[in-house]
Formats: sequence, C-alpha cells, structure tokens
Amino acid sequence: MSELATTEPESPQDPAFTVHLNGSGGTLKGWVVVDTLYDGLAMGGVRMTPGVTEEEVAGLARDMTQKFTLAGLPIGGAKGGIVSDGTDREETFRTFGRTVKPLLHGGIHLGIDMGVTPADRAVFFAEAGYDPRYRLGAPDMPIDWRTYYEPLIDCTGHGVGVAAVTALEANQTESARVVVQGFGAVGRAVARFLEDRGHVIVGVADVDGTISADRLPVADLLAVTDEFGRIDRTRLPQHVTVSAEPDAWLDVDADLLVLAAQKHALNADNAHRLRAGLVVEGGNIASTAEAREKLRASGSFLVPGVIANIGGAGSAALAVTRVVPFDLGSQARKEWVFDWVGDCVRRNTRDLMEIAAERPGDPLPELLDVRGKERG
Ligand SMILES: NC(=O)c1ccc[n+]([C@@H]2O[C@H](COP(=O)([O-])OP(=O)(O)OC[C@H]3O[C@@H](n4cnc5c(N)ncnc54)[C@H](O)[C@@H]3O)[C@@H](O)[C@H]2O)c1
Repeated sequence: MSELATTEPESPQDPAFTVHLNGSGGTLKGWVVVDTLYDGLAMGGVRMTPGVTEEEVAGLARDMTQKFTLAGLPIGGAKGGIVSDGTDREETFRTFGRTVKPLLHGGIHLGIDMGVTPADRAVFFAEAGYDPRYRLGAPDMPIDWRTYYEPLIDCTGHGVGVAAVTALEANQTESARVVVQGFGAVGRAVARFLEDRGHVIVGVADVDGTISADRLPVADLLAVTDEFGRIDRTRLPQHVTVSAEPDAWLDVDADLLVLAAQKHALNADNAHRLRAGLVVEGGNIASTAEAREKLRASGSFLVPGVIANIGGAGSAALAVTRVVPFDLGSQARKEWVFDWVGDCVRRNTRDLMEIAAERPGDPLPELLDVRGKERG
C-alpha cells in the first residue's frame, strides 16, 4: 500500500493512483480512481452501470476533489466504478468487497453512487470487514453509519436549494419561475425547498418527459411520484401540459433551471434552447464544457454541481473526517449538518458570482485556487 503515501501526482491532470479491479475470489471489471489524497485520506461513491469507463470514474473522482476543496474538508477525492448490469449483484459486491479491502482499510472510504444501493454497500463493507466507525488514529464514531447518514437524505436537495436562492437573491429575484429537470431524491427536495420560499415551479421533468403549468402544485406531484422519481401520468393535477418531446424542459419559460437528472443533460446540441438566466446543477457533471461556454456567452449564469450538490458527499465526509459533533442528539446533529452544508454552498455561490462579475471566463478555477490555499 505504498501508494497511499503518494501526495503529488506527476501532473495536476493525473490522479494520485488508479487501481484496476479484476476481482479476488471471483471476477470483476472496474476501477477505483484516487484523484487526490489529503493526509492519506480520500473518499467517493461507487457506481455500477454496464457502460461505466475508467475515464468516467476519473472525471467523477476529480469532481470529488473539487467538492472537498471548495468545502474546505480535509480529505481527497476518489470514485469507484464497476462494469455490470446488476446480474448476480450479491456475488459482484462480495467480490468487490474482497478486492477493495486494502483500500477501505487504508483510508479510501467508498460509498454509494448510481446503481449501488445501501444494501449493496452493506454487502461490500461486510465482506471487507470494514466499518467506517473505526479508523486507526481517528476517534471512533459513536453511532453506526446508517444511523448517521440516512436522516440526511434531503441534504443534497437542501444545498442545491440554497445555491439557487443565493443566486436569485443576488439578482433581486423574489419569486422565480423554476423548472426542475429530474424528480428523484434531489429534484423533489429542491422543488419543495423553493416552493416553500415563495418561488413558483412551472415545469418538472422525469425520464418520461416534461410536465408544465403556470404554477405546478408540488405536493400533488409528490403524491403521484414513485421512489425512483417517475411521475404517474394517469394521476396528474388538472390544467397541466404534458410533453414527451426530448428535452422539452428547456422550452418552458423560466428564470431558473435546476438540473437534477442524468449527466450532460445540457450539452452542445441543446444549450441554444435554454431560456433561464440561471442554471443550478443538482446532478454531477450535468452540463458539458461546451454547453457551459455557450451559456456564459449568452449571459446566463451556472452554479456547478461541485458547489451546489455537496450535501451528500459533504455530509459523508464530515463523518469520515470526524468534523461533525457526534455528541449532539440526532435532531440537533441533522440540523448542524444541514446548516454546515447551507453555509458552505452560500459562501461558495456568492464568491463564484463575485469572481464572475469581475472577470470574463469560467470563475470556478479561481475559486478552487482560493479555497485550495485556504485549506492548505
Ligand atoms: N442523491 C444525492 O444525494 C446526490 C448527491 C450528489 C449528486 N447526485 C446526482 O444528482 C442526480 C439526481 O440524483 P437523484 O438521487 O435525485 O437520482 P434519482 O435516481 O432519485 O432520480 C433521477 C431523476 O431523473 C429523471 N431522469 C432520468 N433521466 C432523465 C432524462 N433523460 N430526462 C429527464 N429526467 C430524467 C428520473 O426519472 C428521476 O426523476 C444524479 O446525477 C446523481 O448522481 C445525487
């Protein structure tokens, strides 16, 4: 495990190290990319899809580095990927747990991402004999991981909502018309958050298409949406417009677009259709570099996912790094984490807007540089 001492990649573009997974006591295809280490620690989720590539995992690991740098958290970014359609998942995660055992015990905490459930995580943690409550040199966590993490399910949506409200307030927009693309865990929490603060949801999209109206009643939509974020078209509120046209969420007239679905939802082919002056990324790499450039050229502003959607990764990192005050009771601890995430997102959103107002081009590299120096 001598790689774990490596702190300086050969080039800033290179990850600290990449592990190719072939399986132990079974076969497996995948990777763990450790983009950066901070004091020997790194963390990130594991995704399992049939088409995941090393390049995709490396990009997501870099995103994790950026998230933790922006949040000032003392941990590096990592990500795992398993190539599988989910057949034989129990065996796959057992093999995965045996294979990544030295990484887990060596300071590389791996969690959940697309295609991986809390039950899958329990399988690979158990097979590796890994319990994040205990780590050499760190105080023990007094509660188990699920007790800590599961009440924080809406934390990502909360942070995305704070990013949106911060940017809207800076533009003196009191009651924005909002489109939420993706109505899963993140999209639903953001829609509730923004409606509660006087903004009007005028469009939501799921994998089947877009639903719009002058004012969509969020509670009624939540009541007809399943746990995977699919809205039942047979039980919709009255007076809504339904479209199955690709990317019809871009055609709804709005001040704010929240992207909370798949990667590269906003791309070079559809960015010209954007009508909102503000875009907030709830998903990871929700827009391509070309789309972001087009958006800037047209005068719109984008809050990237590495700032806005820190809630899930940040709250996990707060526990792994033992920053969270575990002596608080469960409700107070939850509020502490939500406040911490909200403060972090607000500060980063404000500072990003300030840099953007001062200089043309992408403001994110400058903010990363500033936060990197602050963290040391
Ligand atoms: N859940 C978290 O805490 C968290 C944290 C950080 C980032 N993210 C990212 O945010 C995004 C959303 O996460 P989630 O947990 O809400 O996912 P989810 O699976 O609960 O919901 C995804 C939603 O997107 C919709 N969708 C999928 N493809 C679509 C398409 N082509 N057009 C329109 N809608 C489409 C689905 O129907 C569903 O409503 C993902 O990219 C995820 O990786 C999630």
